[in-house]
Amino acid sequence: MSPLRSLRLIVAALPDGGRRRLGVLALATIAGGLFEFALLAALVMLIRRWLDGGGAEGAALLFVAAALAAGAIRFALLVLTQRLAFDTGHRLIVAVQRRVLARDWPTHVAARTSGPLAAIDFAEQWLFSALLPLLQAAGALVLAVGILAGLLWLDAPAALAAAGVLSLLFVASNLLVRGRLRRAGDELGDGFENRIAAVQEHVGAMRELILGGARGQAAERFRRIDARLADARTALLTAQGVPRILVESLGLVVLALVAWWLAGREGGLAAALPTLAALGLGAQRLLPLLQQVNQSYNALASTGAIQERMAALLAEPDLDLSPPPPALPFATEIRLEDVTFRYPGRDEPALAGIDLLIRRGERIALAGPNGSGKSTLADLVMGLLQPSHGQVLIDGTPLSRDLTPAWQRNVAHVPQSPFVADTTLLANIAFMDPSPDTRRVLDAVRLAGLDELVAMLPDGLATRVGDRGQLLSGGQRQRLALARALYRPAPLLVLDEATSALDPGSEAHVLSALDGLQERGTTILLIAHRDTMMAGCDRVVRLKSGRLA
Ligand SMILES: Nc1ncnc2c1ncn2[C@@H]1O[C@H](COP(=O)(O)OP(=O)(O)OP(=O)(O)O)[C@@H](O)[C@H]1O
Ligand SMILES: [Mg+2]
Repeated sequence: MSPLRSLRLIVAALPDGGRRRLGVLALATIAGGLFEFALLAALVMLIRRWLDGGGAEGAALLFVAAALAAGAIRFALLVLTQRLAFDTGHRLIVAVQRRVLARDWPTHVAARTSGPLAAIDFAEQWLFSALLPLLQAAGALVLAVGILAGLLWLDAPAALAAAGVLSLLFVASNLLVRGRLRRAGDELGDGFENRIAAVQEHVGAMRELILGGARGQAAERFRRIDARLADARTALLTAQGVPRILVESLGLVVLALVAWWLAGREGGLAAALPTLAALGLGAQRLLPLLQQVNQSYNALASTGAIQERMAALLAEPDLDLSPPPPALPFATEIRLEDVTFRYPGRDEPALAGIDLLIRRGERIALAGPNGSGKSTLADLVMGLLQPSHGQVLIDGTPLSRDLTPAWQRNVAHVPQSPFVADTTLLANIAFMDPSPDTRRVLDAVRLAGLDELVAMLPDGLATRVGDRGQLLSGGQRQRLALARALYRPAPLLVLDEATSALDPGSEAHVLSALDGLQERGTTILLIAHRDTMMAGCDRVVRLKSGRLA
């Protein structure tokens, strides 16, 4: 990626008022450049006074004042730059996370799960390798111009000679490391994502790793992934450091040569003294600044892979943060008309030619072998997926993408593999509810048959369930998911094998709870394999290879 494109990305990601702050930063930077110039001028004046043998107090005072002011401006620049950079970085990380949250269901399912996690690494890397250096470089460049102007004003031939040789050194050393920088930068992007994917796998597959005696293998694989990342980072930073070392060491030689050349001019060393002192001070200030500019350029050019990923993420649609719409009225029926659905990348449709009517208040069982399309059908009814052909109608109105959020407010769902958060029972049941209604939570607990467990636990509803609910039994986890769905007063309840792990007694309990819900008008779509669950249903719809059987 070109540094210019990076620059455009950065400006686009600036926080509110960022451009104004950028303006303040630019003014402070220009002031900084002026003070660097003044500092050099004051030094030259001071030395001239000394050489003339006149009183140097005034010039000395001026020099001290200029030095202090230049220092203060540099400090202000540091503060402004860091603040702007980290604010922008923060906005960037939040913006990326919002885009991850804005993804629709199919995009989410198809994406690599480590992507959203790695996005945070990308954003940080982008901040440290692109934005911060760029801001610092911009500041450094103006300061450097101030110093250069000072040197040129003092002794143009000497300044031009020194600057020319130094520039050549910079260009040559950059050409030397360019390829290496780019390769290392490309490896970083993959490295971050692979590392997170590996950690996720370890956490998710711990049981398999223990029982399969494969923990050593996993550790070794992780070591290799991280070693590659460490190598890439080492290579990147080392290559970035080469120009600095080269210029710093050869810069001294250049300075000595210029001194030798100056001493040979008319007036000898004494006449050359102010120039030499200014060149010395100039070089001491200028070199680190030029290095900063150079390093930033390299960082921008070499971390293109990461910036591409960030740009791709930022190009995804942003999340609509307006409050959720009121629930879509649902009075009479859900109708599927000639619905076909094909997952991306699959030849065979998961569902084909489905005509199905679900009346309000009905309890319908969906049955069929594994992979016959039951969960897909439920996802279409819930608006998580859109038909490839045909339509879903709610009370006769086609369920468009625009209506989907309003429709989804009617839906409570227990997925086939429910998500359990690492928090308390209460927070899991009243999931994402900022002010949980304890009475409704207790009702849901009772309906889902979790009351005995809650009564037994010393902390009751405040008991933490562990990461992914691992401190609960499989059946308890399932009942927790049921309680979460029952907490939501929704007219449509979709249960995707929600009782598959329940013992017969618990299943009977849930069935009677469903009777109660149906009496209150809840429409229930349940996917089940067991006859006991189908027994209480008004109808059983059977699927086979994506078609109604
Ligand atoms: N995200 C996906 N991408 C591609 N294909 C998918 C996806 N999800 C499911 N499928 C495929 O769609 C078909 C129907 O899957 P679905 O999950 O609807 O089956 P199911 O009837 O719920 O099965 P089970 O009883 O195993 O839960 C299967 O062939 C499956 O491989
Ligand atoms: Mg399924």
